[in-house]
Amino acid sequence: MAKKVAVIGAGVSGLISLKCCVDEGLEPTCFERTEDIGGLWRFKDNVEDGRASIYKSVITNTSKEMSCFSDFPMPEDFPNFLPNSKLLEYFRIFAKKFDLLKYIQFQTIVLTVKKCPDFSSSGRWEVVTQSNGKEQSAVFDAVMVCSGHHILPHIPLKSFPGIERFKGQYFHSRQYKHPVGFEGKRILVIGIGNSAADIASELSKNAAQVFISTRSGSWVMSRISEDGYPWDMVFHTRFKSMLRNILPRTVLKWMMEQQLNRWFNHANYSLEPKNKYLMKEPILNDDLPSRILYGAIKVKPRVTELTETSAIFEDGTVEGDIDVIVFATGYTFSFPFLEEPVFQLEQNMVSLYKYMFPPRLEKSTLACLGLIQPLGSIFPTVELQARWATRVFKGLCSLPSEQTMMEDIIKRKEKRIELFGESHSQVLQTNYVDYLDELALEIGAKPDLISLLFREPKLAVKLFFGPCNSYQYRLAGSGQWEGARHAILSQEQRILKPLKTRSVKAAPTFPPSFLLKILGLLAVFVAFFFHLHWF
Ligand SMILES: Cc1cc2nc3c(=O)[nH]c(=O)nc-3n(C[C@H](O)[C@H](O)[C@H](O)COP(=O)(O)OP(=O)(O)OC[C@H]3O[C@@H](n4cnc5c(N)ncnc54)[C@H](O)[C@@H]3O)c2cc1C
Ligand SMILES: *[C@@H]1O[C@H](CO)[C@@H](O)[C@H](O)[C@H]1NC(C)=O
Ligand SMILES: *[C@@H]1O[C@H](CO)[C@@H](O)[C@H](O)[C@H]1NC(C)=O
Repeated sequence: MAKKVAVIGAGVSGLISLKCCVDEGLEPTCFERTEDIGGLWRFKDNVEDGRASIYKSVITNTSKEMSCFSDFPMPEDFPNFLPNSKLLEYFRIFAKKFDLLKYIQFQTIVLTVKKCPDFSSSGRWEVVTQSNGKEQSAVFDAVMVCSGHHILPHIPLKSFPGIERFKGQYFHSRQYKHPVGFEGKRILVIGIGNSAADIASELSKNAAQVFISTRSGSWVMSRISEDGYPWDMVFHTRFKSMLRNILPRTVLKWMMEQQLNRWFNHANYSLEPKNKYLMKEPILNDDLPSRILYGAIKVKPRVTELTETSAIFEDGTVEGDIDVIVFATGYTFSFPFLEEPVFQLEQNMVSLYKYMFPPRLEKSTLACLGLIQPLGSIFPTVELQARWATRVFKGLCSLPSEQTMMEDIIKRKEKRIELFGESHSQVLQTNYVDYLDELALEIGAKPDLISLLFREPKLAVKLFFGPCNSYQYRLAGSGQWEGARHAILSQEQRILKPLKTRSVKAAPTFPPSFLLKILGLLAVFVAFFFHLHWF
C-alpha cells in the first residue's frame, strides 16, 4: 500500500513536495490554511495573519533559468527576473501541468502534529486539522513541513530605547505594500537586507528624505552581471564554486572585495560592511547606489535612541522630523503545530540534519523543507530536498545514526559562522552549489563530470563552466528527465528571447574587441622577439 504523506502548506515548498511524492508513488495530502496556492508569492493588498506578506513591487532576486524546477523550464518569453505575479503564474502552470491541485485541502489549518503511540515501530504521525471550525484528525506515514519562515516579524524593540515616545508611524516591513501615502515624508528604514533596500529605494522617489540605518553595512550587487547576464548565472558555476573552495582564504577575500567594489566603492557610499570578509549575503539591488548618489537616500549608522520626532545615531548625529520608521529587521520562525521535543529551536537556530531532518527521532518520517537561505535560488534547493525526503520516506535512502547527524549539525554550524558570521539574519545561510550537490549525492542525481567528459565533452564543459542550474540534477540517476540535456544546451535562447524585442543587426563575425586582442597578442610576441635580439 502506498505510504500516506501529509504536506503542510501549499507555497513553493509544498507544491514541489507534492510533485515529488507523486513521482515516488507516495500518496500525499496537502493542508493549506488559505484559499489558494503560492504562499509568499501570492500578493494581496492586505496583510493576513499566519501568511507571509510582500510588497507589490517584489521582483525575484534569482533569475528564471536558475529558479525553475528541474524538469519544467520557465516559458521562453518570461523575463529573466520575475515580478511576483509572473512567478505565481509559473507556479500555477506547474501545478496544473502535474495535476497537483487535487491533493490540496484549502482553508484547512494544521493545528497539531503528534507522534502516534506506536511511533517507535511505525513512525506514524497523527495530524489534527481545522476547517470551517471543524476539527479532524488523520494518521500519516510521514510529514513534510512546508509552512514557510517569513511569517513572524522580528522587531527588536528593546534595542530602540525611546520607541514608546516616538510620535510618528512605525511598522515592520511585512506591513509595507506600496509607496502611496508616503509622499513628502521623512522616512527612516532600519536594517539593510533585500527588503530594506527595496523599500528605501521605492519610497525615496517621492519622499522628502529617506535614511537607511545599518549597524553592519552590506555589499550591494546588481542583478545584471558580466555581459548583461543575470548575476546568479555568472556567480553560481561549478568552476567558481570550486575556486571559492580551494583558493586560500586571503586571496579569495581580496578577490571578492575587488569584484564587489567594481560597480561602486562601498566605503565611499558608507555601505562597506563592518566585517567585510564575511560572505554575508549581499543585497541585490540595482537602484540603491544611484539613489544614494542623488542624495535621496542617506546611509546612517545604528540608532541608539528615539525621541518624539527624531532619531539619534551611534555617531552622535541626529535626524529630526522623522514621520515614519520602517523596521526591515527580518523574521523569526516557529512551528506552533509541532510538539516541543521533535526538534529544538534555540535563538532562531534549528538543529536539523542537513537543514531538514530532526536527528533525534526514532524514525525518519518528518522533514522540514525550505528552512534555509542559500546564496542562490531557493526553488531548486527545495526541489532536491523534497526528492531526498520522499526517497527517505519510501525507504530508498537512509539517514546515518543520531550521533553522526549531531556531529554533522555541529560541524556545519561552525563552518557557517566562520563564513557568514553569527548575526541573527544569517542563521539559515548556506553555500549554494555545495549544498545542492550534497543533496543530489544522496539520491544519486549528482552529475558525473568525469565520465561525461569522455562521452559528451561539450555538455561536460557547460556543466563545469556554465551556470549550475537545476536541469543538471536530472541528467542521470533516479528521476532522470530526457529533456534535461536539451534544457541545458538551449538556455541561452530562453535568456535572450524576452530581450529580443527589436531586431538589431547581427554583430560582425570578428568583433573589434576580438581583433584588438589578436593584435595585442601579436604585439607582445613581436616585442618579445626584438627584446631577445637586442641583448
Ligand atoms: C520579499 C521576499 C523575496 C524573496 N525573493 C526570493 C527570490 O527571488 N528567490 C528565491 O529563491 N527566494 C526568495 N525568497 C525566499 C522565499 O522564502 C522563497 O521564495 C519561498 O517563497 C518560500 O516558500 P515556502 O513554500 O517555503 O513558504 P511560503 O511561501 O511562506 O508558504 C508557506 C505556506 O504554508 C501555509 N501554512 C503555514 N502554516 C500553516 C498551517 N499551520 N497549516 C496549513 N498551512 C499553513 C501558508 O499559508 C503558506 O501558503 C524571498 C523571500 C521574501 C520574503
Ligand atoms: C573613495 O574611493 C577612492 C577611489 O576608489 C578611494 O581611493 C578612497 O580611499 C575612498 N574613500 C574612502 C573613505 O574609503
Ligand atoms: C532574495 O531576497 C530574499 C528576501 O529578502 C532573501 O531571503 C533571499 O535570501 C534573497 N536571495 C538571494 C540569493 O540573495
